[in-house]
Amino acid sequence: MLTLKACARILGILLELGGLRAQTTAVNTSNSSRVIEDPASLVLPFIGTTNGGHVFPGATLPHGMIKVGMDTDSPENQGGYDADTRFDVIGFSQLHDSGTGGGIPLSNFKLFGLKDTDCFSFEQCPTSLFLRATQRKILPDSTPDDFASPGYFSTNLSNDIRVELTAARRAALHRYTFPSSVTSPRMIVDITNDGQQSSRDQEMSLDPKTARVQGGATFTASFGPGSYRAFTCVDFKGEGFDLGTPVQFGVWLSDTTITGATNLKQVYAGPRDEAGAIFGFRKAPRGPTRILARVGVSFISSEQACSNAEEDIPDFDFDRVHQANRAEWNELLGRIQVDTTGVSEDIVKLFYSSLYRSHISPADYSGENPKWNSTEPYYDSYYCNWDTYRTLYSLLALQDPVNFARIVRAMIDIQKHEGWLPECRGATAQHWIQGGSNADPILGEFWVKYHERAAALNVSGNDLYNALLADAENEPPNWNLQGRQANAWKTFNYVPHDILDPGGANSKQVSRTLEHAFGDFAISQVAKIRGNTEDAAKYVQRAGNYFNVWNPNITVPDAPSVRGMMQPRSSNGTFDFTDPRHCSIHDPEGATCFLDAANMDGFYEGSPIIVSF
Ligand SMILES: *[C@@H]1O[C@H](CO)[C@@H](O)[C@H](O)[C@H]1NC(C)=O
Ligand SMILES: *[C@@H]1O[C@H](CO)[C@@H](O)[C@H](O)[C@H]1NC(C)=O
Ligand SMILES: *[C@@H]1O[C@H](CO)[C@@H](O)[C@H](O)[C@H]1NC(C)=O
Ligand SMILES: *[C@@H]1O[C@H](CO)[C@@H](O)[C@H](O)[C@H]1NC(C)=O
Ligand SMILES: *[C@@H]1O[C@H](CO)[C@@H](O)[C@H](O)[C@H]1NC(C)=O
Ligand SMILES: *[C@@H]1O[C@H](CO)[C@@H](O)[C@H](O)[C@H]1NC(C)=O
Ligand SMILES: *[C@@H]1O[C@H](CO)[C@@H](O)[C@H](O)[C@H]1NC(C)=O
Repeated sequence: MLTLKACARILGILLELGGLRAQTTAVNTSNSSRVIEDPASLVLPFIGTTNGGHVFPGATLPHGMIKVGMDTDSPENQGGYDADTRFDVIGFSQLHDSGTGGGIPLSNFKLFGLKDTDCFSFEQCPTSLFLRATQRKILPDSTPDDFASPGYFSTNLSNDIRVELTAARRAALHRYTFPSSVTSPRMIVDITNDGQQSSRDQEMSLDPKTARVQGGATFTASFGPGSYRAFTCVDFKGEGFDLGTPVQFGVWLSDTTITGATNLKQVYAGPRDEAGAIFGFRKAPRGPTRILARVGVSFISSEQACSNAEEDIPDFDFDRVHQANRAEWNELLGRIQVDTTGVSEDIVKLFYSSLYRSHISPADYSGENPKWNSTEPYYDSYYCNWDTYRTLYSLLALQDPVNFARIVRAMIDIQKHEGWLPECRGATAQHWIQGGSNADPILGEFWVKYHERAAALNVSGNDLYNALLADAENEPPNWNLQGRQANAWKTFNYVPHDILDPGGANSKQVSRTLEHAFGDFAISQVAKIRGNTEDAAKYVQRAGNYFNVWNPNITVPDAPSVRGMMQPRSSNGTFDFTDPRHCSIHDPEGATCFLDAANMDGFYEGSPIIVSF
């Protein structure tokens, strides 16, 4: 923001705080031509959507649970989409993460449209991922005929079917426009193919009269040992005409449809990856046939997926849902106004595109936590706090304290029920942590900035502090999934290189030491504000423990004047040696520091080098 400020002066940030209106800086409305009324029009969702950028360009609300988007057969489809037209479209699924690594997350419950001419017969439609893969239309400039803006995504496929997507919080609305030549438009619902094709314990039934599909399965988490169950509920409606009852229906397995079947169990031989429902519908009496698909999702049950869809999108009104979604984005993005005088439009677009990206995750899964009942908010898709604590929550503190407070409450509620604050949670499952428990600085940041308004924001100071103490003092059974390596930290005042992680890996003790020190600094600041001087002193001292892994004698081979580096240290106090260039751009071996059991250097996605030379 600081670099940008040099180009486009931030005119003001407007905050609505639980009824309290807090205007940090006055927006100068005396020149109304400068107020950006429709910042959503400046957002470019396709930035970073190819060459492994893994960014999600589909439709979602700010922090929405539903992230409905195009899925391609790209090997880099962590966000589903790939702008590279070499990759074909395999469906439009309801849930995604944005910008992550790991196994391909979510991408559940793909829908796809087919024309009768795409099939030899109803029984032989290309229903599997492999056979249904379809090219996008390619524009003269070689880009795909795809469009995206906040809350909306559309594409024209080479089979002349146009697909448009929009989102409410827990339900998506799709619009499939078939060419006038179609005689029987067909719709596929794919229950089993998440991004990793990992499903098991699948269930699905369809109603031959209403064409409602209910189903679900258990899927593998993206970056951890866990799994999650997800459910869907799909309803169809003709736009501008009565869709009536389906002309044909069935259950498909791979590329074979069993006409007349209504339940996966009727035709199911054993665990198979590819299965779902298929319908043939009547065409519109005049003009192109438009079929709306309303897709509810739940992590609790398919009944709840239906009620989510009915509550969030009762009217199947695509344009209303789209406009309501966009209005939410405009309200949120418009809270930050910039003076664009003399600033290139690219910079302004980059600013609002980045601001937009900052509100995709974590996602509001309130009411959808399968693990315990609570009236507190439930947020998921943290994936990981380590990646976001340095900047995302500082921005939220300025721009969106109400959501910040809800995320903090969700984190505290998770600590109350699981013992430790979440770190890398995704799809309701714990994922591998990166170093420390970085909810500590997030809660610390909240308390430092909002303790005077905590009551209005419904955040309990006692609960927040107890959650921090649990992280700081209690060692969890597996500190690779939650919490910290607290016992070693308290015994040695650093994390020794020779104490192995659960599972025998030995990869990131220096990084842990630094993260634990920073977490303790955050706790000391909260203790200070709470008037707990004893704890404030204790944790600020522990924050200084980072110095225990500083070896002042280490030099860089090519630059002997650069002296002193963080280094791994054994429990007997002696330093081990990691080439300070390791994992840096100067690393002669070009090593990476990804999560890897063979990585013994003590650093995680980081390098001992702290200066460039
Ligand atoms: C705090 O809780 C009260 C009572 O449940 C509610 O009316 C209010 O909207 C909440 N405020 C915020 C900012 O969440
Ligand atoms: C608001 O903008 C007007 C016109 O650009 C300017 O004259 C005025 O000084 C500004 N007011 C403040 C408080 O910045
Ligand atoms: C308002 O801003 C526009 C665009 O920067 C400028 O052309 C115009 O002169 C300004 N008007 C006033 C009253 O400052
Ligand atoms: C797709 O085709 C329609 C006309 O049929 C057009 O309005 C639209 O701009 C095209 N592109 C996208 C991405 O929707
Ligand atoms: C939550 O409450 C509902 C309704 O009482 C109950 O059916 C469900 O089992 C509870 N869920 C959990 C995880 O305890
Ligand atoms: C660094 O070198 C000095 C001087 O040789 C020595 O006294 C000191 O123990 C060394 N420190 C470490 C951590 O090796
Ligand atoms: C300390 O432990 C390391 C291995 O963990 C060992 O290589 C080293 O020799 C030990 N140093 C002393 C002084 O015992």
